[in-house]
Amino acid sequence: MNITTETIQKALQTVNDPDLKKDLVSLNMVKDIVVQGKEVSFTVVLTTPACPLKEKIRQDCEEAIHKLVSPDLVLRINMTANVSSLRSASPMLPHVKNIIAIASGKGGVGKSTVTANLAVALAQEGAKVGIIDADIFGPSIPTMFNCESAQPGLIQVNGRNLILPIEQYGVKLLSIGFLTPPDDAVVWRGPMASSALRQFMTDAEWGELDYLLIDLPPGTSDIHLTLVQAVAVTGAVIVTTPQKVALADAQKGLAMFKQKQINVPVLGVVENMAYFTPEELPENKYYIFGKDGGKVLATRNEVEFLGEIPLVQSIREAGDSGKPAVLKEDITAKAFKQLAQGLARAVAMRNAMVEKTKKVEFTVHTAPNH
Ligand SMILES: Nc1ncnc2c1ncn2[C@@H]1O[C@H](COP(=O)(O)OP(=O)(O)O)[C@@H](O)[C@H]1O
Ligand SMILES: [Mg+2]
Repeated sequence: MNITTETIQKALQTVNDPDLKKDLVSLNMVKDIVVQGKEVSFTVVLTTPACPLKEKIRQDCEEAIHKLVSPDLVLRINMTANVSSLRSASPMLPHVKNIIAIASGKGGVGKSTVTANLAVALAQEGAKVGIIDADIFGPSIPTMFNCESAQPGLIQVNGRNLILPIEQYGVKLLSIGFLTPPDDAVVWRGPMASSALRQFMTDAEWGELDYLLIDLPPGTSDIHLTLVQAVAVTGAVIVTTPQKVALADAQKGLAMFKQKQINVPVLGVVENMAYFTPEELPENKYYIFGKDGGKVLATRNEVEFLGEIPLVQSIREAGDSGKPAVLKEDITAKAFKQLAQGLARAVAMRNAMVEKTKKVEFTVHTAPNH
């Protein structure tokens, strides 16, 4: 049999992206097919480097080619990613592909911990990631990234002075905490905080980012409004702990994003401190705050449950010492990595769904008989 790039392409047309339920070739995810004797190489371009199905897709490609073309072929599959975005036409932060608001009903549920670890996990997978710490009540990102006394510099771009984010563990950071000395009790007034947040978006040199996470203050505030009025937000993540009093507040936070005038899609719910586990006995789980509260919240609101993080002493220690837990290779790191993959997947699905909707409208107009 004469094997050509077309033969390979045909075989790959039988491989579906499990999430998008379409074949890789139609999705334009296969590039650079080269056939040289028994060696075949090509690139699969995923919609996120944190794709949880990366290995499955690679295996499906191998199987399809070995079954439909020849079992003797030697395959070199290069898995890369080009993070999808709906924001490229946005006037503000057009080079940021996805803006993700991290919100909670209550303070102290682990919003900043989750933000910090998600960001580092996504960066570890090869994504370009930034964080804006907009929590005026307790900007804790500088502590969690061990850069409390950092002072962001300024850079001249086209005659404008832009703030240069601090970079730590592969993540670019700007925090409301950088604007005040750590021990100064500054009472941030709404308008002042809102204008600082706006400045972080309009007057900062972020460069290209795949994901910009925004650590919001707990509850609902002017800051939330400023954010959604200023930029197109890809989606929101709601962090909660499982007990009833936290869930009631999380429900309010979630409802806010769904309001007509805000209208930000909720990408999902994260249940933090889902159960206590002693690190040396990880199979022992104690549901001290109750069980499955976050799951119930997600189901009730018909949004995705993105995952759960246990309450582990080392997570708190990691936060306090400024080295996010995900940097270590242990059970907590694994939980945060899985969560990051789930989030990246939710973002990719969201972007694909909206594109699909547009395509459906188009089809209706051009093919009325269909
Ligand atoms: N899963 C967890 N296990 C142990 N400690 C945690 C966990 N999540 C958060 N913490 C700790 O709880 C405290 C509050 O978390 P933080 O992320 O600052 O909450 P928020 O940003 O919602 O106010 C911090 O000391 C943090 O280290
Ligand atoms: Mg916080």
